[in-house]
Order: sequence, then structure tokens, then C-alpha cells
Amino acid sequence: MDSFEWNKIIGAVLGTAIFIFVVRLVAEKVYEPEIPAKPGYVVEGVVETPAGGGAAAVVEEALPDWGTVLAGADVAAGKTISTKCEQCHNLAKGGPNMIGPNLYAVVDRVRASHPGFDYSAAMKAKPGNWTYDELFKFLKSPGSYVPGTKMSFAGLRSDKDRINLIAYLRSNADAPAAIPAPKPAAAAAAPAAAAPEAAKGATPPAPPAGK
Ligand code: HEC
Repeated sequence: MDSFEWNKIIGAVLGTAIFIFVVRLVAEKVYEPEIPAKPGYVVEGVVETPAGGGAAAVVEEALPDWGTVLAGADVAAGKTISTKCEQCHNLAKGGPNMIGPNLYAVVDRVRASHPGFDYSAAMKAKPGNWTYDELFKFLKSPGSYVPGTKMSFAGLRSDKDRINLIAYLRSNADAPAAIPAPKPAAAAAAPAAAAPEAAKGATPPAPPAGK
């Protein structure tokens, strides 16, 4: 074989190698799995794997000690968050039902009880009142807490946001629901949300009725 033949063989081998390389690159791009930012389904009680890795843990979110966190909650911040709700809910006293029922004085209200609103069967089937705990769990992920609810709202992941919002909803009533007495060990166990200010024991002033 003369050197010209060798050149052809080496060329063919190199060419094949480059071809395989390119095909792999393209294939990797095309078949790269797209990991959604948010899972398409949510299983109650299952916490996603933390960003730093580690096994997914099945943990029920600890409920706040309302006697501690409400006193220090940021009602103004909660009112700002409530604008997300106003897409579908009127919050004013005597206001209309919209896509969702009017939410004036919703804290401690009997579930699915607002006159004139056509609740889903799922909501009507779940008895009880909208206590602080119930709102806290529902607002994290409405669809997983009341499967089949008509409320198509993704939910508020941050416990702090939910506490502030619930503090605002509480204040948005003629007679705000009672705040339970703090649990003895609360200072340590309460979510980071509002514990420091809570120590001062300041009760947020209720804004005027309506908005
Ligand atoms: C996309 C529209 C939409 C948004 C946004 C929304 N909701 Fe709802 N909400 C609904 C609907 C519809 C229902 C009725 C659910 C049912 O019957 O299953 C509802 C029901 C509720 C209920 C139950 C009321 C009752 O009388 O039993 C509460 C509490 C509630 N929403 C709070 C909120 C809060 C707080 C926010 C803001 C963080 C919010 N919602 C955002 C549509 C919405």
C-alpha cells in the first residue's frame, strides 16, 4: 500500500469518528430529559428532594403555633399577597362571589357555606371550618388538600407567606377569630416566620372593614 492509500484509510477512520461524535452530540441535545421545575402531580405529605440532594422524605409540614406566629405576623405583607386571591375572590364585606366565593371573614367560617356560591362536590364533601390550620394546609396546595376542588390555584409554598396572608384574612372581619394561647414550647418549635416579633406580643391592628 502506498502512502496515498493510507491517507484514505486514516481519513475514513477520522471521518467516521467525527461523524459519530457529532451524532452523539445531537442525540444528547435532542433526548436530553427536560426536568420540569414543578412536578406535574403533588402527593400530599411528600416533600421534594432538597436542592442539595439527599433522599426525598415523607414529612407532614409542621403546623405553626398560631398563638405565637399570628401576633408577630406581617399583616400588610399578607394584604399584598391577597392580591393574588383577588383574581378570583372579592374580599370586601358584602362583596360579590366571583370565580370563587367572597372571602370576607373566612377564618373560622364553615367550609363551603357562603350563600349563593356553587361549590364543587369535593369542597362540599369535606366537613369542618376554615380554621388557621385548615387554611394553612389548603393554601399550600389547594388541589392536593381538597382533590377535585374548583380552585385552580397552585398554592403558596412559603409558610411565612401563608402565615402573613392568614393573619390578614383574620383581620379582614367584623370580629376577627380568636388567637389561641401560645403553646409552652412554641418559641422553639414555631416556623421561622414571625417568631422574633411574636415575643413582643404585639397584636396587629385590624385594618378598617372592607379594604
Ligand atoms: C383562579 C381562581 C382562584 C384563585 C387565584 C384563588 N381562589 Fe380560592 N377559590 C376559587 C374557587 C373557584 C373556589 C371554590 C372551590 C370549590 O368549590 O371547590 C375557591 C375557594 C376558596 C376557599 C374556600 C371558601 C369557602 O367558602 O369554603 C378559600 C378559603 C379560598 N378559596 C382562599 C383563597 C385564597 C386565600 C387565595 C389567594 C392565595 C385564593 N383562594 C386564590 C378560586 C380561586
